[in-house]
Amino acid sequence: MTGPPLVPMIHAIEAANKPVVAAIEGIALGGGLELALGCHYRVAHSKAKVGLPEVTLGLLPAAGGTQRLPRLTGLPAALELITTGRHITAAEALELSIVDRLTDHSAVDAAVKFAVSVAEQSLDACRISTRPCPCPPDVNALFEAAMQKVRQKARGAIAPVACVQALQAAAALPYAQGMEREKELMATLFTSGQARALQYNFFAQRAVARWSMPGGARWDSSRPKPICKTAVIGLGTMGRGITVSLAQAGLSVVAVEVQEKPLKEAKQAITGMLRRGAKRRGVAPALDLITYSQNLRAAVADVDLVIEAVFEDVDLKKQLFQQLSAVCKPDAFLCTNTSALDIDLLALQSRHPELVVGMHFFAPAHVMKLLEVVYGSRSSPEAVATAMNLGKKMGKVGVAVGNCRGFVGNRMLKPYLEQGLFLLEEGATPKLVDEVLEEFGFAMGLFRMSDLSGIDVGWRVRKGEGLAQPGTASRVRQGRRYSPLGDLLYEQGRFGQKTGRGWYQYDNSREARPDPWLHRFLEEYRARRGLVARRIDRQEVLERCLYTLINEGFRILEEGIAAGPEDIDVIYVFGYGWPKHRGGPMFYAGMVGLTKILGRLEHYQKAHPDVLYLQPCGLLRRLVASGSPPVHKWREIIKKTHSHL
Ligand code: NAI
Repeated sequence: MTGPPLVPMIHAIEAANKPVVAAIEGIALGGGLELALGCHYRVAHSKAKVGLPEVTLGLLPAAGGTQRLPRLTGLPAALELITTGRHITAAEALELSIVDRLTDHSAVDAAVKFAVSVAEQSLDACRISTRPCPCPPDVNALFEAAMQKVRQKARGAIAPVACVQALQAAAALPYAQGMEREKELMATLFTSGQARALQYNFFAQRAVARWSMPGGARWDSSRPKPICKTAVIGLGTMGRGITVSLAQAGLSVVAVEVQEKPLKEAKQAITGMLRRGAKRRGVAPALDLITYSQNLRAAVADVDLVIEAVFEDVDLKKQLFQQLSAVCKPDAFLCTNTSALDIDLLALQSRHPELVVGMHFFAPAHVMKLLEVVYGSRSSPEAVATAMNLGKKMGKVGVAVGNCRGFVGNRMLKPYLEQGLFLLEEGATPKLVDEVLEEFGFAMGLFRMSDLSGIDVGWRVRKGEGLAQPGTASRVRQGRRYSPLGDLLYEQGRFGQKTGRGWYQYDNSREARPDPWLHRFLEEYRARRGLVARRIDRQEVLERCLYTLINEGFRILEEGIAAGPEDIDVIYVFGYGWPKHRGGPMFYAGMVGLTKILGRLEHYQKAHPDVLYLQPCGLLRRLVASGSPPVHKWREIIKKTHSHL
């Protein structure tokens, strides 16, 4: 694989005595561009795009791309393009000397004409591999900075690092030796498992777009209804981002708040967000697509689809759905951005429950790619298709999921967060837990994440579930082990970054610093409850946090809440900072080995019999009993499980 037949072909083209001109129309990515780089000249259509995106699939451009591109563009541009995999326009390619000429007409005709015009010229300078690689005087500093940047961003992914190493070879070695190095590095990437994870992810993303609902209703491109006019109700953190995202997708939006002051503040914030976004993208801000209103009845009367993002309060949402059902058009879709509430309960408030679905965005909603489209027992396939289609228009990765508390993402997060708290009770520190998770590749460890999203937010959810009970010290709630640590922090007014104190301290910055107060607090907490701190190793932290999350993923598959492991993995990669090069929790489980995961869960459950989440899921046991098939075979076993039920 590392020496694709492309390489000798490119060498033969480059060695030819007649000028060979590449004509680029559409897209020339990866091997296509590498082939063009072997030609003596390149002519591109002005709408063409080029790039070397191999790094995004855990690989590097191994048909000479890492050796030729820097010889053509210089090292800084090649480093940027190859380590990010960015696609560039024909105009930028011309600026970087990747192409020699642009045309607005047929690239083939222009290339033929060009070949004729240069027929008499020497080709010596046109054989890129024979050129020296231009090195700036501070080349070592350049590579040092590039390496530092990719290591910081890569969170353990090895392909970007290998790309820098291949370019180092281009700078330091003659072409033929550089090619050897390129080949060696590619072989390492190919056998690493990370490339497999990234390629799995690439296909998983496509698979989830062809969603299905248990009961047989399937994706059907003819089903989505066209949506032109939308309304967003509640313009807090989420409503603002959703409004921006809708307007940026070209939809008209009525943005609704009940009171004047929050409406004014929201308008200001949304305008700023749209202006900044438009500036970044070099387009005009879509300000005209948004109208602001305090009058719900008038605002929603003629819209095709409503997304509500008011406070997470079930009675408020129930009342709002009754109102919406009374004043909207009878065929308007009613969507909720709730993080966990029962979609069926909300649908019951409407005269048309079949038009009610969850559209669960993630904060900040104009940035985060994930959208969980939650179908209730009455939601019609048309409603799901419409929400999925709208999500796609908004540039989101939509995943259709079933209705249960927390849906897929938040439901799996619960046992993971809980393990973090239990580990603190047993002797760990927030820093230890976060370091282990960040080393694994998460963008943020669970305590830093909790400080960022707000300890008060989690407390409100637990209060709603009857778990957080002020003044109660018990470590058993609703018959299960429970850690009140987060509740105690809330009661101290430590809400996280917003109050400058949480699991860490923040002194006028976002940098999380360990807080001696917290360590004293944990010691007192343990002493009062007769808990003896023990030394907890990193492996235990990783296994307990990840394996409980994975175990819940198996339960979700068993219950048919997610259609397949790919759905869960896409949710975790796009919404929860799971490192892409590890595929997603379910793919990762397959990589670790299902037998090992089962064994470790059994081990931890023996040590903590009162922790329900550690009890291995039946589906996991069945998969192990069936010889731990690879992840793409799980659906068959899940299907059999469902047909037996
Ligand atoms: P928020 O507290 O920032 O905003 C809620 C907004 O709704 C406030 O501006 C409030 O004035 C407005 N509001 C309340 N009642 C209203 C009514 N009857 N009509 C019009 N506006 C009304 O809350 P946030 O964080 O934006 O959450 C909104 C929803 O999104 C909740 O259901 C939450 O669970 C969900 N969600 C929140 C996420 C987050 O990270 N904050 C992530 C995903 C979902």
